[in-house]
Amino acid sequence: MLIPDGTNQFFSTLAQLLQRELAMAMCAVVVVSSDGSTAREQDYLEMLLTMDVDGIAFISVGDSAEAFDTLRESRKPVVVLDREVPLEDRADFVLLDQDSGVHSAVEHLAGLGHTRVACIAGASNTGPGRQRTEAFREACSHFGITLEESAVVDGDFTFGSGVAATKELMSGNALPTAVFACNDLMALGAMQYLQENGCNVPEDVSVVGFDDIPLASWVYPRLTTVRQDCGAIARVTSELVLTRMDHEETAPRDRLPTRIRKIEPRLISRASSGPARV
Ligand code: RIB
Repeated sequence: MLIPDGTNQFFSTLAQLLQRELAMAMCAVVVVSSDGSTAREQDYLEMLLTMDVDGIAFISVGDSAEAFDTLRESRKPVVVLDREVPLEDRADFVLLDQDSGVHSAVEHLAGLGHTRVACIAGASNTGPGRQRTEAFREACSHFGITLEESAVVDGDFTFGSGVAATKELMSGNALPTAVFACNDLMALGAMQYLQENGCNVPEDVSVVGFDDIPLASWVYPRLTTVRQDCGAIARVTSELVLTRMDHEETAPRDRLPTRIRKIEPRLISRASSGPARV
């Protein structure tokens, strides 16, 4: 399994759950982290192919990588998770309904009376990063929330980018009463900045994240977030990769049609979001 960032509990939790699923089929999983580097991603992929692994579960670092060509040319059974990559007829895909997740987050904040909502965008070189930011704009329009251009700031899915982005948001004129971060690590960075700079969460500023990593329930206040069901993702990935591995054994010349599985996210309302202050 190739993951982009082993320090992010979203990926490490997913890897752990996939290992449990595949252990039931007597399969061991070698997990390697690309550490945010497409060069390292390619090196590890070549290592896994040299090890002659039976199948690959792949989460890319970003959009453009020679790893896609290597995967396409290898005959290995491949399941792509989370971030779409151009392997149309060579892999199966397990993807999240990003629009639905972001819509539920904005609906939650609109329902709490927030009209000044900011967004910390995810890594722009990833599908989820771009899709969530676009979905945020669409959801704000749907719920009648006027969006200042300065209300959407760049992030890269790291904790530090959440801190920096919130500092930028809180130095403007029209301060937001709510911040939606496109993943939990950036939401935790936002909470840290707010709490260390005289803002109460959620009384002064509500914070909502995306992923529902274990940390989201360990911090104070506990984080409202959009849950990605890692258990479901792991189960579906296991089923798909085992089917492809079996097919490779029994009918290698027949191309298995691509299968796309969509996972539905769910809003988890906790204490970091509350009514907009008047
Ligand atoms: O937290 C990391 C983010 O990158 C997650 O939301 C996941 O969807 C991945 O794309």
